[in-house]
Amino acid sequence: MKKGFVFDLDGVITDTAKYHYIAWKELAAEIGIEIDLKFNEQLKGISRMDSLERILTLGNKNDAYTEVEKEALATKKNTHYVQLLQSLTPDDLLPGVKTFLDEAKAKNIPCAIASASKNAPFILDKLGVMQDFDTIVDPATLKKGKPDPEIFIQAALALGIEPAEAVGFEDAQAGIDGIKAAGMYAVGVYSGEELHGADVIVEKLTDLNIDELLAK
Ligand code: BG6
Ligand code: MG
Repeated sequence: MKKGFVFDLDGVITDTAKYHYIAWKELAAEIGIEIDLKFNEQLKGISRMDSLERILTLGNKNDAYTEVEKEALATKKNTHYVQLLQSLTPDDLLPGVKTFLDEAKAKNIPCAIASASKNAPFILDKLGVMQDFDTIVDPATLKKGKPDPEIFIQAALALGIEPAEAVGFEDAQAGIDGIKAAGMYAVGVYSGEELHGADVIVEKLTDLNIDELLAK
């Protein structure tokens, strides 16, 4: 029996990948690197600094900047990204999310957010669903990012359950890999890209029957 739900944020609760893309694309262009939508797929689930490193690798510029300069580049991207997030409203919740969260609450199933994003509390607040989550893992406390299972294990323990008693929801391959490495049941949320290793793949959360999921 499963006793709790652990959600990724970007791509599962709301679609922010397009805003990450706009902000990274502009930043990359400023330093002479061109990224496209296909490359952007690789950045899903990956931390801000790791995303910057991947962009610099693409442009053969890993050694072109000091750590301080890299921090400044990441901060510049984030400032732009946060500007783009200002327009978020509850209408930007992905289809089925609110219904699913309400049903979980009605069944007393605790819910956690396991997102690499340091903007998660701000985004949840804009979407009006902050109260629907019992805990939000602070990614600043993690030693390793996804695909390491650390964030998912931490989320389950914060809910007072074992990882094996949790269901994880992810749209990115790095996230699915992390959920499975944590020993959890993995729901893949399809966003146009192939996902490997998920126990089930859905297009929206309401395609799932909560009772059947809890019985896994
Ligand atoms: C993840 C996104 O949820 O958060 C990544 O999928 C992003 O694309 C990461 O890089 C970190 O986000 P932020 O908001 O802290 O820059
Ligand atoms: Mg995601």
